[in-house]
Amino acid sequence: MGNEIKTVKILGFAGSLRKGSFNKALLRLASELVPEGAQLDIFDLEGIPPFNQDLEATPPEKVKEFKAKIRAADAILVATPEYNYSVPGVLKNAIDWASRPYGDNALEGKPVALMGASIGMLGTARAQYHLRQTFVFLNMFPLNRPEVMLPFVDKKVGEDGRITDETAKKLVKALLQELVAWTKKLQG
Ligand code: FNR
Repeated sequence: MGNEIKTVKILGFAGSLRKGSFNKALLRLASELVPEGAQLDIFDLEGIPPFNQDLEATPPEKVKEFKAKIRAADAILVATPEYNYSVPGVLKNAIDWASRPYGDNALEGKPVALMGASIGMLGTARAQYHLRQTFVFLNMFPLNRPEVMLPFVDKKVGEDGRITDETAKKLVKALLQELVAWTKKLQG
């Protein structure tokens, strides 16, 4: 009665379809660091076709599944690569589908945390700030910090593809803890 402990359900997705994606590795790292009282479900964007507004009222199955999972989640976790100083088309495309048709934005009001890994020195900073701009129109509630921007990631993975960097682990752990707290705060 008011004190029920409810699991905070987080849906995570990465803006890369690459099998050896560092951003998928970041999500896998997150799944090992989920705080007690929360769960992380990972969704693969593979199979989401290019957005076509003619089809937005009757979207493909994969998009329906994506929107249903977003709706069932209390919070969203995005792992984004940076492509040409911005958000990869694959990720923007998936977000565009999830936001349509007008009035049926599955992402509306969702708390969201961002992280990203790149082989460059700014660790997806530019892509993350572009995504934050998109979150404004989607009326999402992004967590301000910590900012998880992992540069030179190719030097921070083991042979098994796992991220070995201790700073990254600490930051991802803190990000998840803050996301859970933020979600509870927003839910009142
Ligand atoms: C990149 N990469 C890149 N990196 C970066 O730090 N800033 C950038 O603007 C770009 N631009 C860019 C464009 C395109 C088309 C590709 C394919 C790559 C390199 C990028 O960091 C690297 O490929 C990562 O490995 C991509 O993330 P995943 O696929 O490993 O998750």
